Amino acid sequence: MTTTISVIGTGYLGATHAACMAELGFAVIGVDTDPAKIADLSAGRLPFYEPGLPELLRAHTDGGALRFTTSIAEAADADVHFLCVGTPQRADGLGADTTHVRAAVAGLVPHLRRDALIVGKSTVPVGTAHELQAVADALAPEGVRVEIAWNPEFLREGRSVEDTLRPDRLVLGVTSEAAEQTLRTVYKRAIGAGTPVVVTDLVSAELVKVSANAFLATKISFINAVAELCEATGGDVTDVSRALGHDARIGHAFLKAGLGFGGGCLPKDIRAMMARAGELGVDQALTFLREVDDINMRRRHRVVEMATDELGGSLLGRRVAVLGAAFKPLTDDVRDSPALNVAAQLQLRGAQVRVYDPQAMDNARAVFPTLAYADSAADALAGADLVLLLTEWSEFLELDPAQAGDLVAQRRVIDGRNALDTDAWRRAGWSYRGLGRPRMEPIVESAAPVAATELELVG
Ligand code: UDX
Repeated sequence: MTTTISVIGTGYLGATHAACMAELGFAVIGVDTDPAKIADLSAGRLPFYEPGLPELLRAHTDGGALRFTTSIAEAADADVHFLCVGTPQRADGLGADTTHVRAAVAGLVPHLRRDALIVGKSTVPVGTAHELQAVADALAPEGVRVEIAWNPEFLREGRSVEDTLRPDRLVLGVTSEAAEQTLRTVYKRAIGAGTPVVVTDLVSAELVKVSANAFLATKISFINAVAELCEATGGDVTDVSRALGHDARIGHAFLKAGLGFGGGCLPKDIRAMMARAGELGVDQALTFLREVDDINMRRRHRVVEMATDELGGSLLGRRVAVLGAAFKPLTDDVRDSPALNVAAQLQLRGAQVRVYDPQAMDNARAVFPTLAYADSAADALAGADLVLLLTEWSEFLELDPAQAGDLVAQRRVIDGRNALDTDAWRRAGWSYRGLGRPRMEPIVESAAPVAATELELVG
């Protein structure tokens, strides 16, 4: 019976996985080379924002089921080792950097004293697991057999705890029945009766992850391409999307047009997948992903164009409130954030930008120290000539448009996420522009009784 689990790499994925494995009842040791991260986690402090995770972390570090160390040797006695280290975009932009996964395997294997299962969870270029098996075989102590398995992770930031504890499917890439059984045992408590388990080979398991992210990115860019057509024709992409989504074969999820995708996964993963296809001699198979990437980046420029247009052709000296800095709500992650990219472009063109985000201010300041930041949404809105909603936090969606209107110099809003209650804002005197939607003027309430009388007469 498996009882001890090691998690190597305690960033976003690893910290979540470690805390969730402890929640499932295992003794867990988390390993990372970063002493600051280990000090935080050991003290039950989560170094990033993720709803629900701090409580799990504290409960299990206090309870003793979960501990953290910088020494990989201390992980050697675990029954199963999960690899959760990062695979960032390479400096040359051509693919994912697998240095850390290799280093983790090379660091762990010489310490092993008995047969072990190392389970990769990181998103890697297809073929990496086989290479890691070769590294493990070369470094395993005499008489110790190390098996590599691949069990990709599909968790979303902001929902990582529920995605880990109640996954909508499990993918087990294994080379032996014993490995499959071990992983089934580990996940037994997480798998609901109906949860599908796909057992496959290493290569296919690796491919599932990159393919899933590429598909999601493609779906978003598809609807954003339709948004471009709507902008050229006067159509409304929110209606087109709603109608498309009712087709069960298409579905509503990831069909929301707006500023497009960002974050640490989707943009990086489609580029890495293209790069890998090129290495494998099948680059043509994925050239469409170049378009997916381009459509996505064009949305950011489009918002800047719209802002310029709204302000009469020049941004110079104009005050712009930017609501949102994180790449999406419920996270403080600003990696490849469309919101910050737009804010920086506006500032470059001379606008006086003030950015506010409920959670991502520290990270935003670290990445874009020269942007101006506000202390609250109200502070960002004060005196603004134009308001841009770029990350759809509920705090922004719940703003009272009349009160917001009293703070600004001009009641003009660009909704980069098509998320605001359009009519409510227009009734409060705002002009409204969404992405892929016609420009909408404020609604001036007409004298209702007259209209009713006319209707009765006509009837
Ligand atoms: C993604 C995958 O969803 C997850 O399965 C994988 O494990 C990691 O990558 P994440 O990066 O947390 O997760 O973000 P996700 O929720 O997928 O959103 C990605 C981006 O797409 C965000 O910037 C979001 O604003 C944008 N998006 C999403 C849209 O623009 N439109 C949509 O309809 C949906």
